[in-house]
Amino acid sequence: MPKNRRPLIAGNWKMNGFKADGQALANALAERMQSETDPAFDMLVCPPFTLIAGIGETIDGCGIALGAQDCHAAAKGAHTADISAAMLSDLGCQYVIVGHSERRTDHGETDLEVKAKAEAAQACGLTAIICIGETEQQRDDGKTFDVVKTQLSGSIPDAAVASNTVIAYEPVWAIGTGRTPSNDEVQEVHALIRDGLSQALGEDQAAAVRILYGGSMKPENARELIALPDVDGGLIGGASLKAEDFWAIAECCEKRWSSGA
Ligand code: PGA
Repeated sequence: MPKNRRPLIAGNWKMNGFKADGQALANALAERMQSETDPAFDMLVCPPFTLIAGIGETIDGCGIALGAQDCHAAAKGAHTADISAAMLSDLGCQYVIVGHSERRTDHGETDLEVKAKAEAAQACGLTAIICIGETEQQRDDGKTFDVVKTQLSGSIPDAAVASNTVIAYEPVWAIGTGRTPSNDEVQEVHALIRDGLSQALGEDQAAAVRILYGGSMKPENARELIALPDVDGGLIGGASLKAEDFWAIAECCEKRWSSGA
């Protein structure tokens, strides 16, 4: 069954990289991207704040999008050390990750705060990548569906549309652990998310929103995951720090978003 959604392969570099290795990684990706005539995917890198400006220059014009890993909900003002969505846009960012489980855990971010961040991002013309996912305890307790539904409805802006919203399903227990849910389990949650999107945004928008899987995605498991009916790419941490691995994941995308392809 063709999916009319172009896969997005997004690299979340987290708190990794100095100028030299960030540049080397971005250069390697830019070179590969430039030699692609018709890639089957959109590619995005989200470096730490310190590297965004430099990496933006390196990838400028090569077809790789630039993003950040968080933004503040306010437009500007007295928020020491925080970064606004407008500042990210000013640096050339098109995307920003909000509500990553590491932000929810390390900084106690709630669904309400994540929603406010997503709204701020969208108001500045950025696409918000809204992360949701259950902990291991919640999965063991059979609460995965409830948790994911609650996080989704609580984190998504009322005025969200497919062109400014991406959802990333990231089971917390799969992040950086090498463990992943089974393909069936992933598809089941992604279908639930699409159903939730349908209720929140209407069927047409829901059918067009990209839902990424994240959590120990690597070249070895990416093809099967990305081929699942409601999986539209990946949010990749560890494997996005190596150009070969990140590129190999991207190459798992097939031209399946248009029935004519
Ligand atoms: P991982 O991280 O690929 O290293 O598991 C994914 C993420 O946290 O976005």
